[in-house]
Amino acid sequence: MNTKILLSLLLGTACLMASCRNQEMIPVDEISSLAVKQCTIMEQLLTEDTMPRNFQNGELVRSDTHWWCSGFFPGVCWYTYKLSGEEAMKEMALKESAKLLDVSGLSGDHDLGFQVLPSSGEAYAETGDTLYLKTIRAAATELAARFSPVAGVMKSWNGHKFSFPVIIDNMMNLELLTRASKLFDVPEWKEIAITHARTTMRNHFREDGSCYHLVDYNPEDGSIIRKQTVQGYADESAWARGQAWALYGFTMMYRETQEEDFLQQAEKVAAFLLPRLEGRPVPPWDFDAPEESIAQDDASAGAVMSSAFFELATLTKDSASAERYKAQAVATLKALCGEKYLAKEGEVGGFLLKHSTGHYPAGKEVDVPLTYADYYFIEAIWRYKNL
Ligand code: GLY
Repeated sequence: MNTKILLSLLLGTACLMASCRNQEMIPVDEISSLAVKQCTIMEQLLTEDTMPRNFQNGELVRSDTHWWCSGFFPGVCWYTYKLSGEEAMKEMALKESAKLLDVSGLSGDHDLGFQVLPSSGEAYAETGDTLYLKTIRAAATELAARFSPVAGVMKSWNGHKFSFPVIIDNMMNLELLTRASKLFDVPEWKEIAITHARTTMRNHFREDGSCYHLVDYNPEDGSIIRKQTVQGYADESAWARGQAWALYGFTMMYRETQEEDFLQQAEKVAAFLLPRLEGRPVPPWDFDAPEESIAQDDASAGAVMSSAFFELATLTKDSASAERYKAQAVATLKALCGEKYLAKEGEVGGFLLKHSTGHYPAGKEVDVPLTYADYYFIEAIWRYKNL
């Protein structure tokens, strides 16, 4: 055998071994069949107008379809269908998505994207049925109406003690506008999303790349009244899920618009996060939490970060950064697939992940499974599989 052939054989074997190791690292098939079983258990616990919310005191806690998280279970069903190819999962995804067809029954705040994209958005992408277009269009119209050209942002919440509150989470819902803008040829919706993201980039971030949870604007002149937290430990702390929304939101906005400043912003957030995730790939609920609560994890923040890092790895122009992002995405996903976080069949009412934190300061949904943790976890599995 000549040296060239020998070398290429050795190289081929090494690549195959590396790829096998990579596949083994995350047990995609096991997660897929677990998700089929868990979704089936969970769906049996739901009624026509309820969705899963969390699991507490040995019981599934349900929400109505107005709750901001109502889109995530249909979304988990869609990803489970795509991973498993099981027709029963498609039926379940269609049935669950149908619960959210009427936009007037949805949250009435910025969360419309969280509700409509994983349900009607996914249903339209999978079936091409124009039935879903009406819902997507109505939701985008309602979301765009929240935009103030004076402040250059959309109002996140109604009826709170604030004047014109904008939370970092709102970045996630811009995808409804960019996608609807393409679907219905409404360029203004994309412009609103870009302007909101640029204003957020200017006002929500600190020098170190971390962000505030909430910026309250004066709607009369767009000036800033206050920067603060609601769900984090302190106004100046780095609430983990907020940082996750920022990473995911700016990565997604770069994918949707190809505007370079969004990629730069996503990479700044990544630079803040990477050293903090070293040795603790699933973050604490707040990176600056005090000693008495720093042990409390937020698996949902980990899931959002993992999914976002997978996508950022495909978009960055620097190959070393791509490797770092991918390694972090895998490390976090691997931890989430471990004994501590991953539910066993039949456990916790059909959820996939344990140990998330909803609202620590209010003592609500602390150390529980949450639907958005499951949704971004299974999305991360899907992205890993399609690397
Ligand atoms: N959007 C609310 C949260 O992240 O808890």
